[in-house]
Amino acid sequence: MKVTVAKSAGFCFGVKRAVETVYKEIESRREQREFNRENKNEKFNSEEWDHIYTYGPIIHNEQVVADLEKNGVTVLNSMEELQAVEHGTVIIRSHGVDQKTNDYIREQGLKLVDATCPFVKKIHKTVMEKSRDGYAILIIGNEKHPEVQGIKGWSESDTFIINTEEEAQKFEYDKGKKLCVVAQTTFNYKKFDKMVEIIGKKGYDIIVVNTICNATNKRQAEARQIASGSDAMIVIGGRSSSNTQKLYEICKEECKNTYYIQKLEDLDLKKLQTCRNVGITAGASTPNNIIEEVLAECQN
Ligand code: F3S
Repeated sequence: MKVTVAKSAGFCFGVKRAVETVYKEIESRREQREFNRENKNEKFNSEEWDHIYTYGPIIHNEQVVADLEKNGVTVLNSMEELQAVEHGTVIIRSHGVDQKTNDYIREQGLKLVDATCPFVKKIHKTVMEKSRDGYAILIIGNEKHPEVQGIKGWSESDTFIINTEEEAQKFEYDKGKKLCVVAQTTFNYKKFDKMVEIIGKKGYDIIVVNTICNATNKRQAEARQIASGSDAMIVIGGRSSSNTQKLYEICKEECKNTYYIQKLEDLDLKKLQTCRNVGITAGASTPNNIIEEVLAECQN
């Protein structure tokens, strides 16, 4: 059986970087504690002083979050929980946060480790600069998504969020005003294009910065290509992960023997017995070790 694993399977660059950041922090604490023990430096040996927090779960994967908790990392789920923290390190996840939260962490004297994806960070910078230059900001994306809320929080001028073509049609702002349009990184490119076209006809002095990240597109295109040449396709990811569901649909269109699994135990090898070419891909929040376990099992 020939097994092909998609190169783009699993974590994107920004998520991988954020998860690695947390593990690096854990490791540095371990070394520091070791050093303190050896040097009898009791003052900084307290868990309370160097506790690690993430502002929101670092990734939507229960196993990873549970493993981090086992290693002493606490997830802060709200501003109230953050306000209750007096010492320690707060790690910002790849989605980023608004400027207020960012400043609050620093002003409290907490150590801030910023794992915001550099692509998101770039949007923060654009929004801040353009809003200071007198542009109103129009964000195309889902206003409930933490990334969009974070982006909004870096603007110093009027800021609007729209998510559909209908909302683009209805959008109104003073004619002749300067408007800077940006997008949520995971927004659908075609939809973004259509919405920009609608807004473009409304007579504003407009700048459009396409801030869509192509990690999702790449993953989907590669999955389609592998599935089209495979006798069976395995898609790994959480049941509630919308990007994994989308991957499954794409693969199923190309290969009727597509199987959606969350972990190795869900894999039924009997179904693959007569297959010569098997493909594997995984959603954005699937850790590499699960992909490797599935690969090893298929190659056994
Ligand atoms: Fe991932 Fe960063 Fe793109 S978090 S989806 S690489 S914007």
